[in-house]
This record gives sequence, C-alpha cells and structure tokens, in this order.
Amino acid sequence: MILVTGGAGYIGSHIVKLLSESGEQVVVFDNLIAGSPKNLLSGEELVVGDIRSTDDLNKVFDTTQFEAVIHLAALVNAAESVSQAKLYKEVNDLGSRNVWSIAKSHNVPYALYANSAAVYGTPVSNDRVKESHPLRPTSPYGETKLAGETSLQELYDNYVAFRFFNVGGAESEGRLLQSKDSRAIMPRLYEAAMSHQGIVISGSDYDTVDGTVVRDFVHVEDIARAFHIGLSYLRSGKGSLICNLGGGVPTTMKQVHDLVEEISGITIPITYGPRNPGDISYSLADIELAKNSLNWSPNHDLKSIIRSGYHAYVKNSV
Ligand SMILES: NC(=O)c1ccc[n+]([C@@H]2O[C@H](COP(=O)([O-])OP(=O)(O)OC[C@H]3O[C@@H](n4cnc5c(N)ncnc54)[C@H](O)[C@@H]3O)[C@@H](O)[C@H]2O)c1
Repeated sequence: MILVTGGAGYIGSHIVKLLSESGEQVVVFDNLIAGSPKNLLSGEELVVGDIRSTDDLNKVFDTTQFEAVIHLAALVNAAESVSQAKLYKEVNDLGSRNVWSIAKSHNVPYALYANSAAVYGTPVSNDRVKESHPLRPTSPYGETKLAGETSLQELYDNYVAFRFFNVGGAESEGRLLQSKDSRAIMPRLYEAAMSHQGIVISGSDYDTVDGTVVRDFVHVEDIARAFHIGLSYLRSGKGSLICNLGGGVPTTMKQVHDLVEEISGITIPITYGPRNPGDISYSLADIELAKNSLNWSPNHDLKSIIRSGYHAYVKNSV
C-alpha cells in the first residue's frame, strides 16, 4: 500500500493514475486546497487531511500499514511565497517534517519526495545544472522545499528525492490538468489563446537566443514514470538517491509561445514587460544521474507537452 500526499493535485494525480494502472494499492492524503477528488480517476481512497496536523497524519498511518510514502503536498507558487513566507514554512517545511517523522514512527520503509529545481537558486553559469550545484534558493518556496529534502535525509535511510524543472502537459485523455493559478507559462498561454487575449512576457533583454528567459520543460507523465521507477529502485535495495528530472532541452518563453500558437492555430499577441525581479535567465537540467541510476529519460518532447496540455485545457473549458 502506497500513501500519496498531494495526490489529488496536478502531478500527484498523474502519479496515482500510473500506480493504480500498475496494480499498486494507493491511498491519497490531501487537504484539497488545490486538488480535487475528481482527479482520482479510479476512485482511489481519499483521506482529507492537512500535513500541518500531526493528528490527521497519525490517523491515516494508524489505520493502514504503508510500504512507501510519496510526498507531494505543498504550496507551489514561488511569487506568492514571498508575501506568505510563514505559511510556506508551516506547510512545505514543517508539514514535510511531520510526514517523514510520522511515516518513520509507523515503520514505513520507503519515502519519495517531489522537490524542485528552485532549490538551486540562480545557476552559477549557463551550463546544465547538476545535483552537485550549490543549493541557494532565492524564494521562500525554494527554501522550504529544500528544508523538506533536508529533513528527509535526516530522518530516512531509504529515500528518493526528485528535483523537477518545469512540469507541463497532461495525460492523453486530457482529464488531469495543470491549474492556471500556478502561474506557470503554459497554462497562462492556453488561457490567453482560448480567451483571445494577449500575454505579457517579462523581460526581453536577457542574454538568450531571443532575449526571453530559458527554461527546461518535462512532461508530467515522465515525472510520474520516474516515481514508479524510484519505487522499484527502493524496493530493490539500491539505497537512496537525489536527482534532477527535466527534459534537458533549453527552451525560451518565446519558443513556448510560438509553439502554443502553432498547435492552437490562434495568434497570441505578446507584450514585453520589464524583467521580473530576481527571475533566473537560464535554467537547464543535467539529467545524466536519472539516466544512469534509474534508466529514466523523457519520452515526451516539447510539442507533446504542449499538445497534451492544450488539449486538456480545451477539453476542460467546454
Ligand atoms: N508543477 C511544477 O512545475 C513543479 C515543479 C517542481 C516541483 N513541484 C512540486 O510538485 C509537487 C506537486 O505540485 P503540483 O504542481 O502538482 O501542485 P498542486 O497544487 O496541483 O498539488 C499540490 C497538492 O497538495 C495539496 N496540499 C497543499 N497543501 C496541503 C496541506 N497543507 N496538506 C495536505 N495537502 C495539501 C493540494 O490540495 C494539492 O492537491 C509540489 O510538492 C511541488 O513543490 C512542482
């Protein structure tokens, strides 16, 4: 039996879907602040609770003996974390510590964690970011996600922590989609296309091919597959692992915009605004460790990410 915290959210629900399809028994723990029961496509058991509450967590671990906890529950908006730093600490830092310590006290052998490339902060160069890059987050979001990884290392002997770059896309039938509240570029572009409005891209004078920032996109189904492989890795007794998950392809905001226009067939006028204070100009994953340790590499390219993500948006807005 596997417990997935945050399993009713965007990435969590794709992990739950894959685990269920693979014959695993899954229980989801989520306070539904951003997730929804309708994201549990096979009617997996949902325990509504909050990771800040040790009572809520003890109840679920007292009821069932789990083999692994996959922990995704978090607040995920880096910009919001600046004005809500205390709340982000309570959920992402202290909440994660609660998950690890209560799972450990209930003899759950394996723990897997959804971490973020935000832990690296501003890359020291435009080289691919390896796991050994200094950890210098620039937002309370990044700081509190890093704290969740630190407490995992302190408390667990057998764990896998993945540091995701920018996640996009949706499962093929378009049932599980990324919230536009996340402020991620792709849902904002889908929304702009469908409402026939323009989009503001912050910064056009970065030292990149077209002046807009470079990011690294990875399909949510590739992320889900990595967790499934990570579980097998732990079961086979190979020890612990912290590794990046990304597409490994440098992509500018303008290139994402152009591809959304091409796939949707809709023109999306761009207004270039000033740079976002503190925005990183270039972020690109080194994914060699995931390839070598887990035999994982992305199956989906950028086109597939945008095609599936846009399809899900259209499907869910009619
Ligand atoms: N989306 C990305 O590009 C990305 C990149 C890097 C890391 N991550 C990490 O992946 C994880 C999932 O992100 P997502 O994009 O699916 O976001 P999401 O908001 O869709 O999912 C988070 C889930 O956690 C739940 N939750 C929030 N606070 C909770 C609490 N206090 N107690 C219990 N449940 C709570 C929400 O209801 C939601 O279902 C997060 O840990 C995030 O930091 C996401």
